Amino acid sequence: MWRVWWVVVGALTLVVVEAAKLNEKQTKPRCQDMEGRQRKVCYERNRGYTALMYAIDRNTTEVFDILLRAGSIVNAVSAKGLTPLYLAVDLGNEYIVDKLLQKGADPNTVSTTGVTPLHAATYWGHQNVVEFLLEKGADPNLQEKDGFSVLHKAVYYNFPSIVDIFIEKGSRVDSQNKKGHTALIHAAEGGHTVLVDKLLKAKANPNLQDTSGKTALHWAVLKQEKEVVRSLLKACADLTIQDNRGRTVKDLAKVVRVKNKDEDLKKKVEIIKLLADHNVASCS
Ligand SMILES: *[C@@H]1O[C@H](CO)[C@@H](O)[C@H](O)[C@H]1NC(C)=O
Repeated sequence: MWRVWWVVVGALTLVVVEAAKLNEKQTKPRCQDMEGRQRKVCYERNRGYTALMYAIDRNTTEVFDILLRAGSIVNAVSAKGLTPLYLAVDLGNEYIVDKLLQKGADPNTVSTTGVTPLHAATYWGHQNVVEFLLEKGADPNLQEKDGFSVLHKAVYYNFPSIVDIFIEKGSRVDSQNKKGHTALIHAAEGGHTVLVDKLLKAKANPNLQDTSGKTALHWAVLKQEKEVVRSLLKACADLTIQDNRGRTVKDLAKVVRVKNKDEDLKKKVEIIKLLADHNVASCS
């Protein structure tokens, strides 16, 4: 008798596990990109969705088209403040984004969690969608709750051509998030030399300090980004600024910890030398 029960329980467990696996296979690609970054809507799924939102969430157009023609409200808002446009942007579905914008979807709605369609498009690097949204009046200076502007996002995730677009459309290059970080600080810290040069060319101020008192140059030194240090020096970054612990960049350069002994030690020495040899008169 017991043996029969065990067989039944075993079989049921197997069915449940397989079903879960199948379910995971179906939802995973839409919840995670190639680098394993999570899609925000996957956490916030379903709460207060309209039929149109469910249709968009499937990322197919047939049902979407029918609902739109039948008069679904394009500016409906879910419990978390997500709009149909936000969902479509997040999935990178240009067809649906275009249709929604034509029907008057508002590109500047900020969700209760502080995200906007333009931030989502930037996060995923959907350049065409970024352009659609800006054409339809998306604000290039929108900020999330943490103060991240769309320019911060484009820099942080390293999308140079989207950075170009935002600069051209008038994003404020020196805007600071809640931690005081500028786009230039993010570029410096991330070692994105191309972006550092773009921002400096757009007249970003290299001397703004974050809440820890650090400038872009402090960050470049801390992260041992030699090329970024070079660019910032060329742009007349101020070497006398102290962080909240009283450290100038020269002080910091001497105390940074190196991980990989040979290579990093070489870099450290080179950066100390770059800073020591810097001739203030030569910068512009
Ligand atoms: C959604 O559909 C569009 C258009 O077919 C496609 O380009 C995009 O990659 C899809 N998004 C996801 C996350 O699968």
